[in-house]
Amino acid sequence: MKIGVLGTGVVGETLGTKLATLGHDVMLGARSKTNEKAAVWAAAHNSTAGDFADAAAHGEVIFNCTKGDGSLAALKQAGAANLGSKVLVDVANPLVFSDGQLSLSIVNTDSLAETIQRTFPSSKVVKALNTMNALVMVDPARVPGDHAVLICGNDAGAKATVSKLLESFGWRDIIDLGDLTAARGMEMILPVWLKLMRTLGNAEFNFAIARKR
Ligand SMILES: NC(=O)c1ccc[n+]([C@@H]2O[C@H](COP(=O)([O-])OP(=O)(O)OC[C@H]3O[C@@H](n4cnc5c(N)ncnc54)[C@H](OP(=O)(O)O)[C@@H]3O)[C@@H](O)[C@H]2O)c1
Repeated sequence: MKIGVLGTGVVGETLGTKLATLGHDVMLGARSKTNEKAAVWAAAHNSTAGDFADAAAHGEVIFNCTKGDGSLAALKQAGAANLGSKVLVDVANPLVFSDGQLSLSIVNTDSLAETIQRTFPSSKVVKALNTMNALVMVDPARVPGDHAVLICGNDAGAKATVSKLLESFGWRDIIDLGDLTAARGMEMILPVWLKLMRTLGNAEFNFAIARKR
């Protein structure tokens, strides 16, 4: 499948690498067409690089792996025409750093994922993978035992497409929380995740949902 990954940080590169390893045709996108990190990554992974618009045009499925407070700008640069009615997997978190503290810039009655969906109404936005470290996203077996990946979105077909990709990463417990309003909770879990990382001293953990089956 052709996949456009918007973002050259650890998440974009890690997801891009996994998808390329699985045989997908991946283009990594940045603000600039000549982003050096993206070019180095593409050369090392037999893939391509471009700006956000190039990567969005390339992908049948698009991953938003951009900094939360830059995501709307990144997606506007990608362009509504290139995003089309494609599946848009939103991995970003609306985290902002001020006064030495991280907080959420969109919260409670809204979420970044819903803001993206309102801005690009034809896109099929699916929130996924934002509740864990990048290495765990693509290799759940790094964390022993059963643990879960949460997804939500308004389009059942889009969620089925994303679930298949997640299964190919090794995910077995994929919990569909329903429509995109569930992204509020998925993003609001981040303050707990960040405290856990400090308490546990590393980022390789995940949430498991204990329940009667
Ligand atoms: N790090 C993790 O393990 C992790 C886990 C879960 C979720 N997330 C979320 O995933 C996203 C990516 O995280 P990351 O750590 O890989 O990298 P990041 O540093 O948060 O984001 C890097 C990407 O954001 C773009 N960007 C930065 N500021 C921008 C702006 N003002 N306008 C447009 N684009 C801008 C950069 O563009 P250029 O390429 O042009 O520099 C780059 O592609 C974030 O939203 C983060 O909260 C991260």
